[in-house]
Amino acid sequence: MPIELENVSHVYDAGTPFAARALHQLSCRLGTADLTGIIGPTGSGKSTLLQMLNGLLIPTSGQVRVDGVPTRGLKGPALRDLRQRVGLVFQFPEDQLFERTVFDDVAFGPRNQGLGEAEVQERVRWAMEAVQLDFTAFAARDPYSLSGGEKRRAAIAGALARRPRYLLLDEPTAGLDAAGRLQLLGVMRQLAVDYGTRVVLVSHRLEDVVIACDEVLVMCGGELFMQGSPRQILQRSDELRSGGLELPWFSELAWSLKRHFVGFRTDLVGLEELADEITRVVGAGRPRPSAPAARGEQHGV
Ligand SMILES: Nc1ncnc2c1ncn2[C@@H]1O[C@H](COP(=O)(O)OP(=O)(O)OP(=O)(O)O)[C@@H](O)[C@H]1O
Ligand SMILES: [Mg+2]
Repeated sequence: MPIELENVSHVYDAGTPFAARALHQLSCRLGTADLTGIIGPTGSGKSTLLQMLNGLLIPTSGQVRVDGVPTRGLKGPALRDLRQRVGLVFQFPEDQLFERTVFDDVAFGPRNQGLGEAEVQERVRWAMEAVQLDFTAFAARDPYSLSGGEKRRAAIAGALARRPRYLLLDEPTAGLDAAGRLQLLGVMRQLAVDYGTRVVLVSHRLEDVVIACDEVLVMCGGELFMQGSPRQILQRSDELRSGGLELPWFSELAWSLKRHFVGFRTDLVGLEELADEITRVVGAGRPRPSAPAARGEQHGV
């Protein structure tokens, strides 16, 4: 059973002059796919939504259920079970690093789960390696001395070490370089394959979300604007732009080429698919440089 939201609305500081509506009548299911991406412009309610899913925030109205259990009113062991089931990595990792060493920070969850020190050590090592933080170099470091990208990795390792069923990540690729982004998204996929973890990640970059995820939710003004597979989402380019989102470059190019070549596909995800489609439509049958015998042949579009 996944995470279900039913008519969820949330207003911060409700009933005061500072009341801010963050979510409005949101109904959806999350965690049905291995990797789900949530995208939307700044202030669209993404972080608020994520914090609803592990009971950190309780909606002003509506219901959130995790594997059938409502988050409202949970206390004691039931709340601890929810937090164990749903791991959350905050948008600003500084907010969740508070121990003296990286080791102790990553070990916090497993120790709280009552694991023996040998198993804790094994979990910490695994989690740090999963996010490519070298154990020998980083275990004894003060978390506050880490770079922004390293802090983010340490915070993710801390969540991973608990082995949650659902792992929620708020802007996990922010501040990482291109190689770091790809590597981290690869780790998320591996977690889903190896442990059945359902990953839900928030991002500003539609490109990352469509490449990495199986299911995409688009938020706008606290409402659910779209939900579908990456291919379905990329077909709705005008709506995405009107919702304040930038299309991935390979999508922009596909839509431009469609104006010149009838039948050019626009549901392409990534460089390889774009290259294949260009070959199919523009250069069909044209010889490759590796096939010199065929050189000189000309085929039309
Ligand atoms: N603690 C808070 N108190 C009052 N209002 C808040 C609080 N947190 C968020 N808001 C407001 O709720 C709305 C949604 O904010 P939220 O942080 O969920 O958006 P977001 O999509 O995560 O934005 P970003 O992409 O900038 O991280 C915004 O209008 C924001 O100002
Ligand atoms: Mg946010």
